Amino acid sequence: MKLAVVRERRDAEKRVAASPDTVKKLIGLGFEVAVEKEAGTGASILDTDFTEAGASISATLEDTLKDADVILSVQGLEADQLTSVKKGAVQLSALNPFVEQDRLNAYADAGLVAFAMEFVPRITRAQSMDILSSQSNLAGYKAVLDAAAHYGRGMPMMMTAAGTVAPAKVMVMGAGVAGLQAIATAKRLGAIVSATDVRPAAKEQVESLGGKFVMVEDEETAAAETSGGYAKEMSDEYKAKQAALISETLAKQDIAITTALIPGRPAPTLITEDMVKSMKPGSVIVDLAVEAGGNCELSKPGEIIEAHGVTIVGYRNVPSRLAADASVLFAKNLLNFITPHVKEGVLEIDFEDEIISESLVTKDGAVVHSRLLEG
Ligand code: NAI
Repeated sequence: MKLAVVRERRDAEKRVAASPDTVKKLIGLGFEVAVEKEAGTGASILDTDFTEAGASISATLEDTLKDADVILSVQGLEADQLTSVKKGAVQLSALNPFVEQDRLNAYADAGLVAFAMEFVPRITRAQSMDILSSQSNLAGYKAVLDAAAHYGRGMPMMMTAAGTVAPAKVMVMGAGVAGLQAIATAKRLGAIVSATDVRPAAKEQVESLGGKFVMVEDEETAAAETSGGYAKEMSDEYKAKQAALISETLAKQDIAITTALIPGRPAPTLITEDMVKSMKPGSVIVDLAVEAGGNCELSKPGEIIEAHGVTIVGYRNVPSRLAADASVLFAKNLLNFITPHVKEGVLEIDFEDEIISESLVTKDGAVVHSRLLEG
């Protein structure tokens, strides 16, 4: 059984889908592991680290993929990289499946058995395979550091002989995995933190981290959470009430970190241009949802802009900005996903398994996932 680890080629992608530790474990399961040359360089993992763990290094993508039964990748192969893929090969990666449907059609044509790791269900058994959690956690942490780097003042209160520096006021919008880590990080830096979400369950979590919870509570919020733990899109009436509350709160903040997402839908707009105008000069907004359309009306993917005296940070692919840690966790998620399906050195995927059936997107020459077929 050959397993291939490919070098990522997308812009700003420094992560790799395996680590020396997971390579050792994959070999222990019975795989022969081929890593594409310099696949780990961006994540500070050298080819020699992989060879010491027992992998071989392949000079080209074609050599890496040739005869591979399993392919590990962070963002998945591109449609024009499929010529040397064996029919029936299994690929594990993030796939952005709602947006990149043409690529999925190309996978189906190539006979790839592709899994979109974003679709791994949020059940207890799958927690260790959940790339959204492992990567969002790091993104939440890094967002606060990025905000601090662009903020022209200090975060903690400092009492000095020359006077007192006031603590920064940080508001976190969206208190899921990234948001909760952002709250914890901002607290550790000494900021005064508040947070908002549409899911009432977030209140206790925010408060347990020492944040103040600010939220519009009405009959709609009771049903704002799906059975999978995600948020639903709210009504226009709710959005108007929420906008009024955010507007009032935001004007008093120094930093806003926005993380609000709705799976399969554009990110909700939470900060309008008028709200940016109401913020104090020198304030900073870090929009972690920028690639899904943005939570701030003015944020631009991949750019840091100044608008009305406010710096708006829109880094793409924030987990890749911590590529070494992000890769180690991502690699472990993939290892945990595949391990139950290797028995005595043979890969036997149990397609009846709930985790498999919910994340499988192409098989037997077709796109098979119900959420993608709904259109
Ligand atoms: P996400 O990345 O999809 O969204 C981030 C946050 O934005 C969520 O908390 C969401 O409620 C919030 N949001 C969406 N629309 C909003 C709006 N209009 N205004 C304000 N906030 C809005 O969600 P994430 O971070 O992936 O996690 C969602 C939930 O799933 C969390 O409760 C998390 O603890 C839970 N979870 C459960 C797991 C498990 O049981 N295995 C694993 C990981 C997360």
